[in-house]
Amino acid sequence: MAETVTITIDDRQIQAAPGEMLLWAALDNDIYIPHLCASREEAHPTASCRLCFVEVEGRPAPVPACTLPVTEGLVVKTRSPQVDSLVAMGFELLMSNHRLDCKNCSANGNCELQRIAKARKLRLKPKNLPVLDKNLPVDDSAANIVYDPNKCVLCGQCVRACRKSGNGTLGFARRGYLRVVTTFGGVPLGESNCTNCGACVKVCPVGALAQK
Ligand code: FES
Repeated sequence: MAETVTITIDDRQIQAAPGEMLLWAALDNDIYIPHLCASREEAHPTASCRLCFVEVEGRPAPVPACTLPVTEGLVVKTRSPQVDSLVAMGFELLMSNHRLDCKNCSANGNCELQRIAKARKLRLKPKNLPVLDKNLPVDDSAANIVYDPNKCVLCGQCVRACRKSGNGTLGFARRGYLRVVTTFGGVPLGESNCTNCGACVKVCPVGALAQK
């Protein structure tokens, strides 16, 4: 197999490892594509945030860049009316469910939501959808970590990091609007097997998990 393939993103030719997901090939070449849920380590991405859409030559509809393995001659555009509309819609849905409190948030200035909004000229505050604050209690029971589920965007980064750290404390529970990242049995972090390693805080892109 060839060591690299040549692909074209936004009219720019780049080299990438065959089979690598397009999202990482783009980011490694300073081509920004919004993303929240993908991880380089995941062989089978869940593609749940629906923010990394790109237009692929020869395909009838945009596809998530985190699920698209690169192949020789692949031609993609990171922007198009259809892509922009899908990303805007996905972003607004996320923001309709995210407690917006940038001024008091530990992630302010280093938040992926702010970054996406800036890159795609999107409003953080939803314009067309009502804000549905889950109004869940903030968990500050752990020694070093505060968890505000009202800010969580369900990207799953913390769940993966927690599993990788060997603790496996965090997981998803419930479905639909009620879906939440929580501990086994829903106990507060301070009563769980959390070791306060901080792996979850490091990967949380939105400040839902923060260091005390
Ligand atoms: Fe691709 Fe979330 S990063 S769908």
